[in-house]
Order: sequence, then structure tokens, then C-alpha cells
Amino acid sequence: MAPKTLYQNLIRPDIADMAPYTPIVPFDVLSQRLNIAPEAIIKLDANENPYGPSPRVYQALADETYYHIYPDPNSTSLRDALSKYVGVDATHIVAGHGADELIDLIIRLFIVPGDTVINCPPTFGMYRFDTELNSGNIIDIERNEDFSIDTESIISLTNNDDNIKLIFLTSPNNPDGGILDDACLRKLLDLPLIVVLDEAYIEFAGGSRANWVSEYENLIVLRTFSKWAGLAGLRVGYGIFPHWILSHLLKIKQPYNVNVAGTTAALASLSDVHHLKENIQKIVAERERLYDALDAFNFLKPYPSEANFILSRVTKKNAAELKAALANRGILIRYFDTPGLRDHVRISVGTPRQTSVLLEALSTIE
Ligand SMILES: Cc1ncc(COP(=O)(O)O)c(C=O)c1O
Repeated sequence: MAPKTLYQNLIRPDIADMAPYTPIVPFDVLSQRLNIAPEAIIKLDANENPYGPSPRVYQALADETYYHIYPDPNSTSLRDALSKYVGVDATHIVAGHGADELIDLIIRLFIVPGDTVINCPPTFGMYRFDTELNSGNIIDIERNEDFSIDTESIISLTNNDDNIKLIFLTSPNNPDGGILDDACLRKLLDLPLIVVLDEAYIEFAGGSRANWVSEYENLIVLRTFSKWAGLAGLRVGYGIFPHWILSHLLKIKQPYNVNVAGTTAALASLSDVHHLKENIQKIVAERERLYDALDAFNFLKPYPSEANFILSRVTKKNAAELKAALANRGILIRYFDTPGLRDHVRISVGTPRQTSVLLEALSTIE
């Protein structure tokens, strides 16, 4: 609780009433708390890439000589390289300080207080966070039991509410790893709203819809270097936008949103896609091994995933206690206890050795 001051009432009332964000415990603090060396901690709670960046990233960062100069506000070289990687014209691309920054910017661009954003939980939390921060109204259309989208409810809601401006969809979805099918996406694109398709994990699944942006004037596709390229700590994401949206977005973007280190690292990653794809293959193979192994425990019910994580329902055991017991052994997983996700855990796919340590721990937890 922040100390009260005379100036308390000057804070925006909605922010004064807002619950504080629960910060992630930094690695070094965690290591001290658990009395486990940082390198021995098995971190499977944030869908990071266990293989890290391409070796070319370290070299490029060491060789970079322009850290004292502000970065290019247009991220020209990065957008040109992305154009080849994604297969869309660079004029459709905006780079961001992670996909997270672009989620916030999109909401700021379309939402004035009272406007509505459709959210499809269980899903990534930032859509709700940024909508609330920007005084938007969020309507949750819960996913079906198999985590597919409730298309008909979204259509009838949109046809009866003129304040709806945006919908956020995620494919593969976080936390279940399921894919949004083409037919559902096309139906939603026919609605009078902007569809934001978040493809943060698409490299683990294939089948990006980035090139649909030239076909639909109301589609935005978001991508990131955080997962497939192992650059989560450097914060580089990008969006593929119809030209008419992009021209407005550029007016509100901070000029130096992508820093020199992030740009250098992203360019080095794009020069080493072959190597990074090999890591993706390893993660995908490990995902299948992890799925089978989790399924063999009588207290876990994993869901098939196309991403770099697996969601499991925990039965016959207390999910919170399971998470805590693993944490005490230096293995971090994500625990959920929200509506639609009671007693669920999400485990990011690690290296084969990390999987083996996890499975060994699971087999010994009473
Ligand atoms: C669905 C989804 N979108 C976006 C992000 C954030 O991406 P970035 O690291 O580029 O901000 C995440 C991170 O976990 C995610 O799960």
C-alpha cells in the first residue's frame, strides 16, 4: 500500500482504485529465496525459449557501435528484413517494444472511454489489462470447453452493440495452445470491428495468417521475437497492419520504441533463421514427449498444444500445492485458479534434460 499524501486525489481515480500488478519474481531473488543456484533453476512458467538467442545475436551485440545514437524511429532495416521473413510488404509492418507495446497502442488508437473490446478468456491477460488501463469496457465471451471460440455469441453480441470496436484472438492461444480455424476467423472478419490476431507462438504451429492483412481491411496480426527467437528479454515484437490503420498508429507511437540492442538482435536472428528453426523443431519434438509423459500421470489431464507450452488439468491433487512442491525443487510452472481454469497448470516446453528433471520430480510428489 502506497503512503497517503495530501496530493492523493490528484491520481486518476480509476488508477487509484486499480489492484497492483503482481510482479514476476526476478531470477536472482528467486535463486536466493530457494537457495538454488540460478543456473539450476528450471524455469517453465513464462513460455521462454530454453535455447536462448542465436549465437549471432551475442556477436552482433558485441560488434554494434551505435549505442550512443538514437534508433531509427521507422525501424527501416528491421522492417525490410521482416518483410522477407513474413512474406508481406514492409509498408504493412510496425515494430514494437514487444507485442505488448502494440496491444496497448492498438487499444489507444481505437478505444475512447465507454467503447468495448471483446476478450475470449481463458487467454493472454494483457488484452484485459490494457483495455482497463485505457478506460475501455471489456466484455468476456468465454471459450467453449475445448477452448475453441464461441463464434455465434460473438456475432450476436456485435450485431447488438454499436460500441464494440475491437476483438482480440490468439492463435495458438495462451494458455491452451489451440489454433483458431480459418472458417471461424473469416466469420469474425465479416463483423464491423477490428480483429487483432495475436500470433506470438505461430512459429511452433505454422500456418500464419499474416498475409491475410492484404485481403482484410480490419485485420491486424501481431508477432514477436520473444518465443521462437529467444529474445524475450530484449523486447522486440511487430504487427502487420492494413495501410489505413498503420498511418494512424505511427502518429501515436513513441519515436524510439525499439532500441538499438533490440534491433541489432532481431536482425541477427533473421540472419540465422535456419539455426533458430532447428531449435523450434527440438521444442516441438520435446512438446510431444512432454505431452505423452504428462498424460501418463493419473493426476494430470494435458491438452494437445501447438505452442511451446502444455496446459494440464490437475485432478486428485491440489494444483497450488503441486506448483509449490515443484518450486521447492527449483522447477517453476504457471498455476491458474480463474473461472474456466480452476486447478490448471501450464508448463513451458524446456530442453530434454529439463523435461526429465520435471518428470522425475512429478513422479516423487505425493
Ligand atoms: C499471446 C501472447 N501475446 C503476446 C505476448 C507478449 O509478447 P512480447 O514479449 O513480444 O511482448 C505473450 C507473452 O507471453 C503472449 O503469450
